[in-house]
Amino acid sequence: MADLRNTFVGIKSPNPFWLASAPPTDKAYNVERAFKAGWGGVVWKTLGEEGPPVVNVNGPRYGAIWGADRRLLGLNNIELITDRPLQVNLQEMKQVKMSWPDRALIASIMVPCQEDAWKAILPLVEETGADGIELNFGCPHGMSERGMGSAVGQVPEYIEMVVRWCKQYTRMPVITKLTPNITDIRKPARAAKAGGTDAVSLINTINSITSVNLDTFSPEPSIDGKGSHGGYCGPAVKPIALNMVAEIARDPETYGLPISGIGGVTTWRDAAEFLALGAGNVQVCTAAMTYGFKIVEEMITGLSDWMDAKGHKTLDDITGRAVPNVSDWQYLNLNYVAKARIDQDACIKCGRCHIACEDTSHQAITAMVNGVRHFEVMEDECVGCNLCVNVCPVDNCITMVPLAAGVLDQRTGQPVDPNYANWTTHPNNPMSRQAAE
Ligand SMILES: Cc1cc2nc3c(=O)[nH]c(=O)nc-3n(C[C@H](O)[C@H](O)[C@H](O)COP(=O)(O)O)c2cc1C
Ligand code: SF4
Ligand code: SF4
Repeated sequence: MADLRNTFVGIKSPNPFWLASAPPTDKAYNVERAFKAGWGGVVWKTLGEEGPPVVNVNGPRYGAIWGADRRLLGLNNIELITDRPLQVNLQEMKQVKMSWPDRALIASIMVPCQEDAWKAILPLVEETGADGIELNFGCPHGMSERGMGSAVGQVPEYIEMVVRWCKQYTRMPVITKLTPNITDIRKPARAAKAGGTDAVSLINTINSITSVNLDTFSPEPSIDGKGSHGGYCGPAVKPIALNMVAEIARDPETYGLPISGIGGVTTWRDAAEFLALGAGNVQVCTAAMTYGFKIVEEMITGLSDWMDAKGHKTLDDITGRAVPNVSDWQYLNLNYVAKARIDQDACIKCGRCHIACEDTSHQAITAMVNGVRHFEVMEDECVGCNLCVNVCPVDNCITMVPLAAGVLDQRTGQPVDPNYANWTTHPNNPMSRQAAE
């Protein structure tokens, strides 16, 4: 059986699945049950500074986007950091860490962007025996208006400054949690590294309004007729998170910086993808909120079975394996040619591929042949765009088949060129023309 043991910035856990800082990690009662279910670690719900805790709204704090089967695809929330007193959280963290020494326990922290505030809280957290801290520079609502969360995460200079304070005032490993509400994720990651962070984690939630009530014209979730933007997460944000993780993993300036991957992890497969793109472990929030703590069982057995089937013995065998294959568009091979192929036995003749190709793409799929409904790809029109595969309701009914070198591409009338060639040297590229002149 594959070895799922994980070491992340020196913190050991029996598997790479941590619960992200959020309501499931808000109290000992939850965290104990999460550990019993098998989670390798938790990032405790974000702690604030000593004094009266923050106050949450007393009405709906979630909005959602669903698929046609009502499965939750995206979740939006307007919750703040923990609304329980700091001392209560600290006591519970200490007790949980003592009872579960083999699990990772990380304290997420958000205090004002002042040196004294960070200097004051770090020894209190260290006293709990926590394995590390995560700096919450990501929360996009409520706290950001108070100069914390993403208000810090959007200014690289602030990130660097706060990370430096933390490295100065604690011996615990520092994980800097980044906000995706920024144009270029490499800038905050570089700043965190410059400040001396041990790792980055991402993504926190994305600014969002999920819906508007068309009777009251209030954005939802609605509090007494008004709505505020919230933070978006769940399966819908996974592609954004994967890209940001990959950007950091392949940036020469942050290459090798440990990354904790977060955003839409729902299955073992999602986790494996984050690991392949350079994450050292993953954190999960929405999936645990939707399906409960036991979902980790499927993640553990799924990842382990897949690794066994593929001959991967440890997580190191897969971590970062996809990073060298992430390329800028200009380096993609323009001589690669693929065509769609429809499995006539699997086709239910719904016609969606035809409509999509006809109205969007290249009019390359038949609808009627000899007076009967028949859906077939015309290779002399197909540009291989893959749209039909994505709209077909039957899994694996349409597949993309690469043409071998030398085979005639009926669309261009040219045999497939075996050589790799990209846009940088293409004759249509004005830059390459200039270079040649
Ligand atoms: C209700 C809710 C509360 C959250 N609270 C926090 C928080 O206190 N601190 C934090 O760093 N992230 C918080 N997050 C963000 C999550 O930790 C995580 O970064 C985000 O949800 C993306 O992961 P997911 O797609 O698995 O949910 C919260 C998310 C949700 C849904
Ligand atoms: S791959 Fe694109 S062009 Fe080819 S049949 Fe499908 S939708 Fe049409
Ligand atoms: S979308 Fe799929 S199932 Fe529907 S007609 Fe096309 S190939 Fe057949």
